[in-house]
Amino acid sequence: TIGYFNGEFISTDDSVIPIDERGHQFGDGVYEVIRTYNGIPFKLEEHLDRLEMSMKAIQLPQSANTEREHLRFIIYQGIEKSQLQNADVYIQITRGIATRQHLFPNVPASVSMTVRSSKFSANNIHDRVMTAMLHEDERWKNCYIKSLNLLPNILAKQTATDAGFGEAILIRDHYISEGTSSNVFIVKEETLYTPPLSHHILAGVTRKTILDLASSLSIPCEETEITPEDVKNADEVFITSTTLEVTPIIKVDDQMISHGQPGKITTKIFNSFLNEAK
Ligand code: PDD
Repeated sequence: TIGYFNGEFISTDDSVIPIDERGHQFGDGVYEVIRTYNGIPFKLEEHLDRLEMSMKAIQLPQSANTEREHLRFIIYQGIEKSQLQNADVYIQITRGIATRQHLFPNVPASVSMTVRSSKFSANNIHDRVMTAMLHEDERWKNCYIKSLNLLPNILAKQTATDAGFGEAILIRDHYISEGTSSNVFIVKEETLYTPPLSHHILAGVTRKTILDLASSLSIPCEETEITPEDVKNADEVFITSTTLEVTPIIKVDDQMISHGQPGKITTKIFNSFLNEAK
């Protein structure tokens, strides 16, 4: 595992974050998770676009160490140093190090990164199946920002796990928003549905990849509001993220989905996703 903090590659065991770093005191920052396949970061520019958007959204000013060229450079350096073919790159930008006070300090941003071996690499879709629990979306109104504030996400994920499920599918105002760290798709009568982009969900890079793949596979697809009942009555359900890729959901609460097997369209999409990524 490779670590990086403000200009230096370090061991992830090193104690490097100053007490007054705003990331850990306030969660005052944003992040990205990027997957590499065969040593190459997948959809890197899309992730960097979103990182820039997130920074703007929290008024985190660009500085020399957060410029795109520089971020791209340290990401490639980290991947190379790790010597990993299949890695998860976690990159975080915070409002920097300054004596604790709520107002923005006038200091450079902090940039940190880890590059570690990725966990999810089974090529067989049957080894990927997961279950999900419906859970209230208790987050704020700006979930399109990939911010460090993940407390409601981790609480929902832990609640789901303690109840024997793999992921929590979040419900806001009677509609599905997304998973705690994934986007949600359902299939009904051969048509793919996913919630539309809004301030309530993250514009997943994998979500976009899947929409493009569906279109090239001529699978009809609609971005539309989805109710919890729609999810339970779906022919197929799957979630997507950089780390989970395409993960079939075979049970939602007590409701089995597609007889507890990955569905036909999910499998098609899973295969073409892996084909594109690997
Ligand atoms: N999470 N929605 C949320 C709330 C997420 O945290 C993520 C990703 C996604 C999927 O986005 P993408 O396809 O761009 O990875 C959707 C990352 C992987 C994480 O926090 O670990």
